[in-house]
Amino acid sequence: PHVLLLGPPGAGKGTQARRIADRFDVEHVTTGDALRSSKEMNISHLDCEYDTPGEYMDQGDLVPDAVVDEIVEQALASADGFVLDGYPRNDDQAEALESMTDLDAILALDVPRDVLVERLTGRRVCEDCGTNFHVDFDPPDAEGVCDECGGAVVQREDDQPDSVRNRLDVFAETTAPVIDRYRDREAFVDIDGDRTPDAVWADIESTISEAI
Ligand code: AP5
Ligand code: ZN
Repeated sequence: PHVLLLGPPGAGKGTQARRIADRFDVEHVTTGDALRSSKEMNISHLDCEYDTPGEYMDQGDLVPDAVVDEIVEQALASADGFVLDGYPRNDDQAEALESMTDLDAILALDVPRDVLVERLTGRRVCEDCGTNFHVDFDPPDAEGVCDECGGAVVQREDDQPDSVRNRLDVFAETTAPVIDRYRDREAFVDIDGDRTPDAVWADIESTISEAI
């Protein structure tokens, strides 16, 4: 299947996309992870405000379209089925996606802003394997050490309170209108993301199963 997973920062896109990839045996295409491993890439030839993706990301601003479109185009070209997470985030990216592929299921995770702030500022991630933790809801067994792989558990630079606020503002201003564009599509389904990961997953699994 071709699955598009939409929603604000902290809605649980990464958490659910990993489950979708496992269960439906598709590629997890995530612009956030791809960019995090290319934070220092030199993009000065684009003549944008900053010379690396990391400078945009740490403040919670969008990385230039030219960089992100290229990542998605290449990843989708080599994927049979996919779950796309983190893209599109503005109108131009949505246009670009139209010309790359069709979609079987478009899922939008909905979570209130105060819950998002709590999830993001409390999130910690394993540097090595990417497993998510939360200081209050889901702490690692040993402080600072990943339960899965023993790697170091750290805070993302963009999970600092100022960046979190900016990411949520960018979402409201630029990305929420993109989600509204998809609303009248037959493949579109709203999912209440303010529940346990298992409850959210049950809805997602049945929605995709019905769509394919
Ligand atoms: P990206 O990595 O995509 O970040 P994001 O959209 O801000 O999403 P997050 O990873 O923060 O949240 P998520 O929805 O995946 O939630 P998660 O499952 O982790 O992008 C980072 C940056 O890269 C952007 O700011 C931008 O600079 C750049 N970028 C990326 N794509 C771009 C694009 N297309 N164009 C331009 N720039 C781009 O969950 C969050 C937390 O909540 C975790 O602690 C988790 O354990 C917990 N949690 C998850 N589900 C639940 C639940 N049901 N109940 C309780 N807690 C939960
Ligand atoms: Zn780990």
